Amino acid sequence: MATHQEIIGRDDINDLEAILAISNTDVDEIQHIVESNGDAIFTWDYERSRPALGKLYERAKKSQWNAQTDLPWDTDVDQEHVVLANALANNLTFGPELDTKGTPFEKWGDAEWLDFGVQSQNWTLSQFLHGEQGALICTAKVVETVPWIDAKYYAATQVMDEARHVEVFAKYLDEKLSGHYPINAHLKLLLDDILHDSRWDMTYLGMQIMVEGLALAAFGFIQQMTTEPLLKKLLRYVMSDEARHVAFGVLSLQEYYQQLTAKELQERQEFAFEAAVRMRDRFLQQEVFDHFGVDTKEAVKIVMQAPERELFQTMLFSKIVPNCKKLGLLDAGDAWLRDRFTELGVIQFEDWTDTGEEYSTLDEVSKDRDEAAVNA
Ligand SMILES: [Fe+2]
Ligand SMILES: [Fe+2]
Repeated sequence: MATHQEIIGRDDINDLEAILAISNTDVDEIQHIVESNGDAIFTWDYERSRPALGKLYERAKKSQWNAQTDLPWDTDVDQEHVVLANALANNLTFGPELDTKGTPFEKWGDAEWLDFGVQSQNWTLSQFLHGEQGALICTAKVVETVPWIDAKYYAATQVMDEARHVEVFAKYLDEKLSGHYPINAHLKLLLDDILHDSRWDMTYLGMQIMVEGLALAAFGFIQQMTTEPLLKKLLRYVMSDEARHVAFGVLSLQEYYQQLTAKELQERQEFAFEAAVRMRDRFLQQEVFDHFGVDTKEAVKIVMQAPERELFQTMLFSKIVPNCKKLGLLDAGDAWLRDRFTELGVIQFEDWTDTGEEYSTLDEVSKDRDEAAVNA
């Protein structure tokens, strides 16, 4: 197996100095150009031979929603009020409660911590926005590169879904929040690696399983936690699409991985590990600390003290680990990926529900429509 150094560029996965040394140096760029490798594949086999993907495609067609008209955009959002209401409703540690003696936060009062909460919202939603654009580009690539007609059909619906997701997060940031953040360097590295890889199934593994699996968990966490009704509904709708997307990844790769050699599976395990580490690193929010001009390393240590932070960091993996298990990646070879997830402290999720079937229970759009029809 490759070493940690070869896969993630450092020996110790928790080396804070090395993690924070990776930062986005192109914060003013308007375009980011990535070499996207892989063959565009035509198939002359139009036979509908994959009923599970066909079923997903039918559901996707019925579950389309309109970002402009299906959400209550007239909701008034007071960001500071939302920060305080969320902390209160969820018993979250508000900054002033942390032990900040001798740290860069020593002089911070309620006002600074409130602003920190506001900037965290801006940052979080900005990263969701950039991640959604990554998904838009990756699924457009899947349409080209996947060899099966049923998968091309389905992936085409996902391109539309992702365009809608970019649209809603951009609109929410512009109309309800107070500033954009550039893409986090760790997320950017990961998206670049996914697109750069020429093997079609790696786009799936990187995007459908890892990035979207994490997004589904993160959206779920924030959707539960937020007291802001527009964001709550927006995330509920986005999640109902995302669950389908992860299911698409699980169903497709389950079939494909059965024919791979041990060596090929090992490469998939290494890629899954790289993606997991990059995504964990991105949640350190280093750009928010930069915004306040405080020492990032010190800041991360303090903010990580909040008990709910650790819970959030591990919950992010609650979809990824069972899905990797379902794909056989956890225990392939000598269970290398199981050891890595143990090292990351997230192996406890291995027997949680995988997303292969879960999507049907998360179909909020259909539920809302059924309800509206009953009430009409
Ligand atoms: Fe999405
Ligand atoms: Fe998605």
